[in-house]
Amino acid sequence: NQLEMELEAIEKGGYEHFMLKEINEQPRSIADCMRGRLDAQNGRLIVGGLRDYINKFQNADRIIITACGTSWHAGLVAEYLFEEFARIPVEVEYASEFRYRNPVINEGDFVIAISQSGETADTLAAIELAKSKGATIFGVCNVVGSSIARATHAGSYTHAGPEIGVASTKAFTAQISVLTMMALMLGYQRGTLSETKYIQLLSELEAIPAKVEKALKLNEQIEKISEQYKDARNFLYLGRGYNFPVALEGALKLKEISYIHAEGYPAAEMKHGPIALIDEEMPVVFIATKDSSYEKVVSNIQEVKARKGKIIAVVTEGDTSVKAMADHVIEIPHAHEALVPLISVVPLQLLSYHIAVMRGCNVDQPRNLAKSVTVE
Ligand code: AGP
Repeated sequence: NQLEMELEAIEKGGYEHFMLKEINEQPRSIADCMRGRLDAQNGRLIVGGLRDYINKFQNADRIIITACGTSWHAGLVAEYLFEEFARIPVEVEYASEFRYRNPVINEGDFVIAISQSGETADTLAAIELAKSKGATIFGVCNVVGSSIARATHAGSYTHAGPEIGVASTKAFTAQISVLTMMALMLGYQRGTLSETKYIQLLSELEAIPAKVEKALKLNEQIEKISEQYKDARNFLYLGRGYNFPVALEGALKLKEISYIHAEGYPAAEMKHGPIALIDEEMPVVFIATKDSSYEKVVSNIQEVKARKGKIIAVVTEGDTSVKAMADHVIEIPHAHEALVPLISVVPLQLLSYHIAVMRGCNVDQPRNLAKSVTVE
């Protein structure tokens, strides 16, 4: 009815869809997530939820991360973070596979369950299983008081605020923010991350919301690019290192809301199969920011170019090499490579959003999907 419609319009805060509102909220939600935890000026970082379990975390033999969907992608980013900064081996598990596989779980394992809703049935079951084997379970949830938040030994909320759009956006960047803070804190305390580097990363982290704000200004450019590719039947998303999970996430966003088939791959795996798909009809989204794998990604771009694929590249501001090859470049602010996913995912969220709107799809409530998957 009229009243409900008006209420919804107010909730959308002037945006046409919740998804677009939530994408635009990210500078705020990331800052909210860091508030009270990160104080870069004084070189302080405290993830409160870890306090009682800090010894278990620091001395863990292994970190096991379990989640589904987008939260699982945040877990993959965390694998790179924890291994790089804290030098503890990490395994990232789909909750649905983990719970039924009879996995090896020991008391020395530190299990991190990631979930926006805190109600995902498979993630909850994976937690119960790991708990029964004596592992310590830490939750990274958005919804306060949710089942997963209650089932874990300890946890940290992502404080992203309510996420209404079925396609997860601000919850994803908030999850990565919490996990990044955990990794930096752990690395510093274990002595695997030097004080100088730690301090530098803290201030880089603090600068992220402003860089996300800048990335959001790309909206109009991305809308124009979307216009050209809205009728594509397939999309490929490629990235390496920290941007590999971002490629997976970009592809998932597009599938979910625009119903275009999309696949994300580590760029180097392209040669092992997906390269056969490339022709002049195939848009390939590269995340090719200036980082340790940049040169390698550039050669992957050349391989696609040689096969006449259409190249849309997310690059670091001022990049010239990729610009010379790509059909479109989307320039995002520079950041330490470990923090880049927080920025590089933003143009991909916008790309999927605009394509879905142009195709007339129900962006906030895509067909066949539920916001929280409470059945297995
Ligand atoms: C994300 O866009 C999806 N809707 C979906 O993959 C989601 O991330 C997954 O169902 C996990 O949900 P959770 O974070 O609430 O556990």
